[in-house]
Amino acid sequence: MSWNSAKYQAQFSYVWEHGESLLSQLNPQPGEHILDLGCGTGQLSAQIAQSGAQVTGLDSDSAMIEQAKENNSTSPPDASSQLRFITGDAAAFQLAQPVDAIFSNAALHWVLNAEAAAHCMANALVQGGRVVLEMGGKGNVKTILSALEQVSGRKSLNPWYFPSIGEYASLLEAAGLSVVEARLFDRPTPLGKAGLAGWLTMFSQRFFSELTAAEWTTLVKETETVAACLHQDGQWVADYRRLRVMAVKRGD
Ligand code: BEZ
Repeated sequence: MSWNSAKYQAQFSYVWEHGESLLSQLNPQPGEHILDLGCGTGQLSAQIAQSGAQVTGLDSDSAMIEQAKENNSTSPPDASSQLRFITGDAAAFQLAQPVDAIFSNAALHWVLNAEAAAHCMANALVQGGRVVLEMGGKGNVKTILSALEQVSGRKSLNPWYFPSIGEYASLLEAAGLSVVEARLFDRPTPLGKAGLAGWLTMFSQRFFSELTAAEWTTLVKETETVAACLHQDGQWVADYRRLRVMAVKRGD
C-alpha cells in the first residue's frame, strides 16, 4: 500500500520539524556524503544538503520519493546537484560508494527486520562513519496502541518496532557499529489539525485493510473515546517516546 504523500506533506510537518534538532547532532560538513534513510518527502535531506554535504535520500515508497524530487526540483542548481533521491528498502539496500554518515528520522520503526537494517547501515558506511538516528522507542504511542487494541479486539497490536536502548544498541553493535550515545525520552507531540483521527488514518489504516470505510470511521471514533486522555487543552497530543542513537562504524 502506497503512502498518500501529498496529504502527508500537508498535514504531518511536525514529523520533520521535530527532526530538525537531530540535524545539529549530525553536524553535516561540506563535502561529506550523507544518506538520509527513510527520507519521506525529503525536507530534512534538503536541509542537510544546505550544509554543502552531498545527500542521498532513500525511501521504500515511490510516492514519497516522487514528492521529494518534486519539492527539490526548483532548488538552486548548486543545492540540487548535492541532492538525489532513490527508492530502496532500509533492510536491503546497498550503495555504490560508502557514505560518511547516515541520518534517519522517524523511519526505522517501520523497518521490522531491524537486524538486516543494522547490517545495511554498517555496510554503507566508511570506517569511522557515523549513524545519527531517531525513531519510536519502547513505550511509544502506548495509549494509542492500547486504545486501538481494545476497540479492534486485536491482542498485542503493534505493527511497528519500538525497541529499548538495550535491544537496538545490541543490534547495532552486532552489525559492527559502536554506540556512543543513546537516549530514550518522552516527546508529547501535538497532532495539529489532523488530530488523532488523521494520525490513525495516515499511519494505521493500512493495518485494517479488511474494514469498510464506515467500519473504519466507527473504529476511529471509538478509539478517540478510549484515548480521550490524549485530548489536552483543545488538541490531540500523541504520547510519543523517542529513541535517539549515535553510533560509529568500528575499525575491527
Ligand atoms: C512515530 O513517529 O513515532 C510514529 C509515526 C507513525 C506511526 C507510528 C509511530
